Amino acid sequence: MPSNDTIRTQLNHRTIRAFTADPVAPEVLDTLMEVVTAAPTSSFYQQRTVIRVVDPAIRQAVYEASGQPYVGGDRGELLIFVVDLYRNARIREEAGVEVRVLESTALFLQGVEDTLIAAQNLVVAAESLGLGTVYLGSIGGDSKLLIDALKLPLRTFPLVGVLVGHPAQEPALKPRLPREITVATDTYPLLENVHESLADYDQVVKTYYDLRDSSKPVDTFTRQIETKPGGGRAEKAPVREVLDVQRLALY
Ligand SMILES: Cc1cc2nc3c(=O)[nH]c(=O)nc-3n(C[C@H](O)[C@H](O)[C@H](O)COP(=O)(O)O)c2cc1C
Repeated sequence: MPSNDTIRTQLNHRTIRAFTADPVAPEVLDTLMEVVTAAPTSSFYQQRTVIRVVDPAIRQAVYEASGQPYVGGDRGELLIFVVDLYRNARIREEAGVEVRVLESTALFLQGVEDTLIAAQNLVVAAESLGLGTVYLGSIGGDSKLLIDALKLPLRTFPLVGVLVGHPAQEPALKPRLPREITVATDTYPLLENVHESLADYDQVVKTYYDLRDSSKPVDTFTRQIETKPGGGRAEKAPVREVLDVQRLALY
């Protein structure tokens, strides 16, 4: 299989949830922000903004929104990736052009795409420099709190956070679903019985050693899907209400 440093970095990906006290050097952070800026952007609309959190009071708000212990304290750089249709709304308002088009679900999804692609650009670059990262979808546990703390205007939404820092742990690679099931050619790879098709994978997942709770064996994948979705705070959050207030994805 052809390989290079980029591919090796990507194949070696694992989420890091513990960081040393060493700060990310300013020039490294600068490079990472440049990489964020260079990411592809749907229709060249550039509907994303990244906010670096340095104020401990604001970090505390992010910690409360996310409920994740590693967000508290001061380890790692904390970045919030914001879907941003505000800037383009301002451009249109200043020009006297209607802004309703920016309130569609299609345009919001484009903003989500832009925002996540920028975040993943940062993750790959950070890992290629030997840093570790953790995405924080959990900030969705209280979007309203974050919108207030970060003073986010209408037409913006805090989609994910990313903590980046020097790793203080070495988690095992987390096994993914087999490619025969997740990658197809031409048409969707329908399965007759999903549990049966995933039986081997279920056993592989069971042997994965999760640093988050080493006292407990990891459930099989199918068991996780049977029990977890909809249970987390961010998964129960009133996203629709927040989007309505923010004037996003209204139709
Ligand atoms: C969009 C997104 C949001 C995530 N949010 C969280 C989070 O809030 N907290 C966390 O500990 N991990 C979070 N993760 C990390 C996943 O749990 C992790 O990627 C997954 O378990 C696979 O493990 P690995 O990245 O080590 O291979 C998130 C990942 C993604 C892609």
